[in-house]
Amino acid sequence: TAAMGVALGLSFAAHAEMMIGFSQIGSESGWRTSETASIKAEAERRGIDLKFSDAQQKQENQIKAVRSFIAQGVDGILLAPVVETGWDQVLKEAKDAGIPVVLVDRGVDASEDLYLTKVASDFVVEGALAAAWLAAETNGVCDVVELQGTVGSSAANDRKEGFESVVSNFPAINIIRSQSGDFTRSGGKEVMESFLKAENGGANICAVYAHNDDMALGAVQAIKEAGLNPGEDMLIVSIDAVPDIFKAMADGDTNATIELNPHLGGPSFDAIKAAKAGEEVPKWIKANGPLYLPDTAAEEYKMRSK
Ligand code: AHR
Repeated sequence: TAAMGVALGLSFAAHAEMMIGFSQIGSESGWRTSETASIKAEAERRGIDLKFSDAQQKQENQIKAVRSFIAQGVDGILLAPVVETGWDQVLKEAKDAGIPVVLVDRGVDASEDLYLTKVASDFVVEGALAAAWLAAETNGVCDVVELQGTVGSSAANDRKEGFESVVSNFPAINIIRSQSGDFTRSGGKEVMESFLKAENGGANICAVYAHNDDMALGAVQAIKEAGLNPGEDMLIVSIDAVPDIFKAMADGDTNATIELNPHLGGPSFDAIKAAKAGEEVPKWIKANGPLYLPDTAAEEYKMRSK
């Protein structure tokens, strides 16, 4: 064992508990970067040999990575699917090879028997929560612009659906513009600039609903550059709860965020281990978080930015 090796002054690694492949989307947002770091750290803590592959936002790279994990004979695969569709073939290949696949964070539009489980938040609930907060805050009267996430991703599709399902109950809440900012800060800024131009310099806009914090932070910059006060002239609600958004909330620049838990490695590895031991694993292991407001933002920022 490694302990014996150390005692004898020899250096050899302990046999890894499991070899797991992880196909990650990329590093488009602060949340994604923390999720990657958290999953890598959890693998290390457990002595798991993690094969990491960064797809740089491309589904074709993810498909290649999954095939390479299958060829290496891994014990399991973590897949964070960039978009929802187009996974059936490669998931079938993993299943035929007897390798369990855990969907981490995002979902797919494929038959449930092609993967072991999904470890993820309910994005529809997140969207609904954002809309419920906004409806209460504006007494049900508001013209909203929406910054959507990556086109075709479950995170964007479901956050849109959840938000719309609640605002459809309020006849005076209207989504006046909606466009993708690709979950990036620069995308959020660019799209917000075009919204401001199209909407009378921003005078027509009551609130911004951003599918993630990074796009909200980009929008904050655009709103400031247009000479307006974000958080005051326009309400801003977003999703993720990254440290920077707490700083923005504490400064009065944004108004609410919904937490997306980035620590998805533990439950994903547990699920693979359980499946290997022949135990039943539920099809969806949910990881939903609460809504945070400016009153606790300074304290949260202090704790989270350490
Ligand atoms: O799939 C989750 C989303 O992906 C996060 O909300 C966003 O920040 C990330 O890029």
